[in-house]
Amino acid sequence: MKGVLLAGGTGSRLHPLTRITNKHLLPIYDRPMIAYAVEALVQAGISEVMVVTGGTHAGEFLRLLSNGEDHGVGRLLYAYQDRPGGIAEALGLAERFVGDDLVLVMLADNVFGRSIRPTVERFQEQAKGGRILLAPVAEPEHLRHLGVPDLGADGRVLRIVEKPADPPSQYCVTGLYCYDPSVFEVIDRLEPSERGELEITDVNNHFIADGQMSYDVLEGFWGDAGESIDAYYAVNDHVRRFGANLP
Ligand code: DAU
Repeated sequence: MKGVLLAGGTGSRLHPLTRITNKHLLPIYDRPMIAYAVEALVQAGISEVMVVTGGTHAGEFLRLLSNGEDHGVGRLLYAYQDRPGGIAEALGLAERFVGDDLVLVMLADNVFGRSIRPTVERFQEQAKGGRILLAPVAEPEHLRHLGVPDLGADGRVLRIVEKPADPPSQYCVTGLYCYDPSVFEVIDRLEPSERGELEITDVNNHFIADGQMSYDVLEGFWGDAGESIDAYYAVNDHVRRFGANLP
């Protein structure tokens, strides 16, 4: 299984900090943000990783991660996204790297308190379709900034609504996605959303409509450090006190 870390985008919600660097290079406690995502993948047993980034600070990722050895990555590749055309567009750049393999995609601004290994192992057994990780979120205002699943009475995901005005459940879709290689055919057929991006939620809704999407519910802490400056500090505080990617 290959790993793809998405570290492009504009980081506009963390301006002006992200005018002078890439969001995923900002510190979370004692390391740059992306180091936690790399660690999450390595701990889940993934040794071949592609980092997709963009903008003006791409070279710093090479300085930080180099060929990956110091971070436990066996083979580390990089791709450059010319413009922030969306999460699904960024994933599309990894098509040849992934080939016929399964792929684990992680948004590099997401930080997990516990290891993501259980989800990866379950997807390796599943070996087809997609798998996502849901996190319980109590506050509707928070859910309005995220992807939110609509869950049927039997617990199946009926669809995912991106940034819903009226959240259909009290769960969010975290930035961790497992797919079989058919994901690249799905991306090829996507149309840009109203904000001009290829949306990962449209990819996920495709797998849901095909009856090929399963999910886990997160145990422990999850944070999107790119969501707002307050979220950034909440993630920092948590990691400083309790750590991240714990077994
Ligand atoms: O964090 C979880 C949420 O992430 C999900 O609940 C949402 O369904 C999902 O759409 C996403 O929402 P965000 O609003 O947080 O997405 P954002 O545009 O901030 O992008 C998330 C990461 O993806 C970011 O760390 C960088 C990467 N990215 C984003 C874009 C738009 C790219 O690499 N290239 C891009 O063009």
